[in-house]
Amino acid sequence: MHRFRDATQGGSVRRTGRSHLSAGMRAHHDPVTAGLPWYGWLFDRILAHTPDVAAVLEVGAGAGLLWTYNYDRLPMAWWVWLTDISPDVVTELRNAVDGAPQVTVTQGEFADLPLGDSAFDTVVANHLLEVLDDPAPALEEFDRVLRPGGSIVLAADGPTHLIELDRLLAGRVEGWRPLEVPRFHLGNGALVLADRFSGVRLERFSDGFRLLDPEAVMGLLTAVCGTQLSEEHAEEIRAEVDAVIDRDGAFRLTTDTGLFVCTAR
Ligand SMILES: C[S@@+](CC[C@H](N)C(=O)[O-])C[C@H]1O[C@@H](n2cnc3c(N)ncnc32)[C@H](O)[C@@H]1O
Repeated sequence: MHRFRDATQGGSVRRTGRSHLSAGMRAHHDPVTAGLPWYGWLFDRILAHTPDVAAVLEVGAGAGLLWTYNYDRLPMAWWVWLTDISPDVVTELRNAVDGAPQVTVTQGEFADLPLGDSAFDTVVANHLLEVLDDPAPALEEFDRVLRPGGSIVLAADGPTHLIELDRLLAGRVEGWRPLEVPRFHLGNGALVLADRFSGVRLERFSDGFRLLDPEAVMGLLTAVCGTQLSEEHAEEIRAEVDAVIDRDGAFRLTTDTGLFVCTAR
């Protein structure tokens, strides 16, 4: 439990989807993103849709940042099951929640997990569906493990999320394909979910950000594409970003991200 991070550390910008780069490799850890409180907002929404006494499942939990950022806010009577397919990620996840008595961690493909029918009050999938080739089997499984009336909270990006970063990277990082849209995204998710769940609602996260410091923009780019950006291209981008901030007073970033909440029938 002691290894949970301080909840005051804030959240992170989320990036997934539009390049062939592994979404799992997209950085969530960069301190530059800490001022953008995604994980705090997501936790607020989960709290709003979950009873005080509840079994909560997160599928594709990654390194567990949702829980480490919000540990101090975890209701006493929640039992939390975190799962991810990647053994390396699960090692990180286990270290992050080490000793927390309310939290169980399992590694594996979610469809193979030994979860009972109607076992959970809430299922969370934070930027998972958009990395799957087909979201349908996942939704079927979420439906099976949710009790009737239980909530499903599915976070996803839309096609224009942080589009300004894609514009800066296009043509400068090999293989960067900004126009690739995943099968499940903020724009089409409601239709996909309405077939199976009731009361589907979209909740949007913020209206964009204005970054005043060019270093913050460069930090985000590094978080998104890591070492793939050459020094030469980084300098070019830095000059563009400086020019925008000189002209407009800030570098504006579009946020097209949020979540769907719906209810098991
Ligand atoms: C984009 S990451 C999101 C991580 C975390 N939810 C977050 O936002 O901080 C997607 C995660 O889903 C996991 N994943 C992908 N396919 C999966 C599957 N079939 N079963 C379980 N986890 C899966 C990946 O290993 C990865 O950690």
